[in-house]
Amino acid sequence: MTDYLIAPSILSADFARLGEEVDAVLAAGADIVHFDVMDNHYVPNLTIGPMVCKALRNYGITAPIDAHLMVKPVDRIIGDFIEAGATYITFHPEASEHIDRSLQLIRDGGCKSGLVFNPATPLHVLEHVLDKVDMILLMSVNPGFGGQKFIPGTLSKLRQARQLIDASGLPIRLEIDGGVGVANIGEIAAAGADTFVAGSAIFNSPDYKATIDAMRLELAK
Ligand code: DX5
Ligand code: ZN
Repeated sequence: MTDYLIAPSILSADFARLGEEVDAVLAAGADIVHFDVMDNHYVPNLTIGPMVCKALRNYGITAPIDAHLMVKPVDRIIGDFIEAGATYITFHPEASEHIDRSLQLIRDGGCKSGLVFNPATPLHVLEHVLDKVDMILLMSVNPGFGGQKFIPGTLSKLRQARQLIDASGLPIRLEIDGGVGVANIGEIAAAGADTFVAGSAIFNSPDYKATIDAMRLELAK
């Protein structure tokens, strides 16, 4: 059986109580913490950076932190997230002049590396670096905001990425980000995803545990 990971995106958490919010989703059964970094340049929004990642570690969060960098340029901030205690560091190929070097920087820093593909970005960049990624993240919305609608064309892209990973035999995780909820997580898993980011679906729900349990029920079908 596939080991599915649920990754609440703290973009939709109450930032004024971030530590407690992260504690609450982890207690509710989340596996990893999805940490959206936006720079008001690569994407039209501005969020949180390495200091907040470090603060969560100092607060006592030991769960994996999945830093999704929507930042350009990306290399300097990669170093900062390594220092800050990130577990996964993923970036968009459009945001790096030297993709191979950026991936190497992440692994050299002891973190897990990943590439993120916007809805209109093809996967061909992976051809020569597949052995250097631990995670492929497919965006199912255009990055920048939580609460957007899942773009259905992402399902066929997921199948394509799943084939690529299976053919390689490499232990690469396939993550999906944007518009994921209880109603569609089953078909998203059937298309090949094994790691599910969900922001508004979890943090805007009245009971985090009930929502995560309902997601796991769909995944077990
Ligand atoms: C969007 C972010 C997502 C976002 C997902 O740019 O990368 O992680 O928080 O939010 P929902 O699950 O609400 O679509
Ligand atoms: Zn994200």
